[in-house]
Amino acid sequence: MTTTLPPFANEPVLELRRAPIRAQLADAIAAHDARGVLDVPVWIGADTRAGDALVSTDPGTPERVVARAAAADEADVDAALDAAAAGHRDWGRRPAAERAAVLVRAAAWLREHRLEVAALEVRECAKPWPEADADVCEAIDFLEYYARGAIELEAGAALIQLPGECNTLSYRSRGIVAVVSPWNFPVAIPCGMVAAGLATGNAVVLKPAEQAPGCAYVLVRALREAGVPPDALALLPGEGEAGAALVRDPRVHTIAFTGSSQVGQEIVRVAAETPPAQLHLKRVIAEMGGKNCVIVDADADLDEVVPALVTSAFVYAGQKCSAAARVLCHEAIHDGLVERLAGAVSVLEVGQAERLDIDVPPVIERSAQERVARYAAEAERSGRIAARAEAVPAGGWFATPTVATDLPEDSPVLHEEIFGPFLAVERVRDVEHACDRVDASPYGLTGGLFARNPDTVDRVIERTPVGNLYVNRAITGAMVARQPFGGNRLSGTGTKAGGPGYLLQFVEPRVVTENTMRHGLVV
Ligand SMILES: NC(=O)c1ccc[n+]([C@@H]2O[C@H](COP(=O)([O-])OP(=O)(O)OC[C@H]3O[C@@H](n4cnc5c(N)ncnc54)[C@H](O)[C@@H]3O)[C@@H](O)[C@H]2O)c1
Repeated sequence: MTTTLPPFANEPVLELRRAPIRAQLADAIAAHDARGVLDVPVWIGADTRAGDALVSTDPGTPERVVARAAAADEADVDAALDAAAAGHRDWGRRPAAERAAVLVRAAAWLREHRLEVAALEVRECAKPWPEADADVCEAIDFLEYYARGAIELEAGAALIQLPGECNTLSYRSRGIVAVVSPWNFPVAIPCGMVAAGLATGNAVVLKPAEQAPGCAYVLVRALREAGVPPDALALLPGEGEAGAALVRDPRVHTIAFTGSSQVGQEIVRVAAETPPAQLHLKRVIAEMGGKNCVIVDADADLDEVVPALVTSAFVYAGQKCSAAARVLCHEAIHDGLVERLAGAVSVLEVGQAERLDIDVPPVIERSAQERVARYAAEAERSGRIAARAEAVPAGGWFATPTVATDLPEDSPVLHEEIFGPFLAVERVRDVEHACDRVDASPYGLTGGLFARNPDTVDRVIERTPVGNLYVNRAITGAMVARQPFGGNRLSGTGTKAGGPGYLLQFVEPRVVTENTMRHGLVV
């Protein structure tokens, strides 16, 4: 088995401005619709159990059913963990290069089915085409990147050697990884966590988001068809209870979770327990929510700031964990910024995700639409609505893109994650004042800064607690290996997906020290 893979490079996104590519997208969505409803089973080893307890629908046209899924119960969780324990024994013994080859084949599968997978994301999660395509590319990147990382990790690390002593450091898989994923990057995020677990020799049980079982099923198909042994990867579609049953089970060694801060904290609490039969500590990798702030200094170029803020806050209807939620703007330019932002936001085109001419798609479900409306009403009551998008279609789960300002400092609108197309602008005295507000937040996921003075940039880099800071650009769109991604504080356990060191969360280091002095022959 060769261990040489070409150097990692990000998968290029489609050039959507080209007419032939656009025609392919239209064909892909037509083909998707013609295939009809996708049936998603509970999938454990070679066994599948069909069902329709979970129904995922198109957020833009909720009467359109996209996938029907079985919902995993406690017996399924039990069976999946039994299978994974057996699956780990074989998969964990394989050389990293062999496992990497399987992941690289899964990446090839996704490349081959790229438009089909993206079309499913357009329908199941209302991801607009550029976002859906980027999500598939990111999934491919995770597979390729962790495949290479696992080979490097297998080589171990160099230690100091003294005469008469041999020291080796190697890494072993931990056992069973429970992956619990969100819906907003419905292929890339579960793919990243599953690929990291598999690359390092663990068996994986995936409990995807209830809103996107179809996307998770396609991912598991890609990995199984690429050669992941059936016992090494199980799919448990279901609601939160299935995830809770999985993470509390003593057979689980590592939990890789991405989702809200509330659920993440609950998982950290549950995982800390060590019932008598459990001979290990569980490790939790948790990537959670945020309330991301962008600081705008008085010398910022508004021609650059306004489009970057609109992109950061409203692309995919603000449903990215990295999305901008608060703008902390120097008082000298606050009113000018609000006026220009208002102009830009009022003309945003809200519409169906499959249309290439829209800016903002619907939000994922009715409760998300209601949540955004609730925060908008609160902002209207206690502050001022500076802008609302003018034309918002009826019918789907559309939420009105909104900019609010003049909110009281303790307003929940400024401190709670809304996860929708809503941006609050605050007036600050200067950058230090802005940094104080950022520092007062329990979240620390992404942040942004627009400033021309290099000293200001250095000062904000030094003061910001966030995991990913973007300077003079939009704050979304992290790329594997270019911007390793993950939050601090209550936004995450401080690991960086798509970066060096991530795989270390999935392995156990072992050091062996051997006395190599001659000590006679055993006869
Ligand atoms: N930091 C990141 O990298 C990142 C990336 C994407 C999304 N997010 C965050 O995810 C959230 C949106 O996703 P969501 O709505 O799917 O989040 P969520 O927390 O509601 O659900 C995430 C997953 O957890 C499961 N779950 C729910 N309750 C559980 C429990 N008690 N035990 C175990 N599992 C349980 C859900 O079924 C789902 O699969 C936002 O807060 C967003 O900021 C963070």
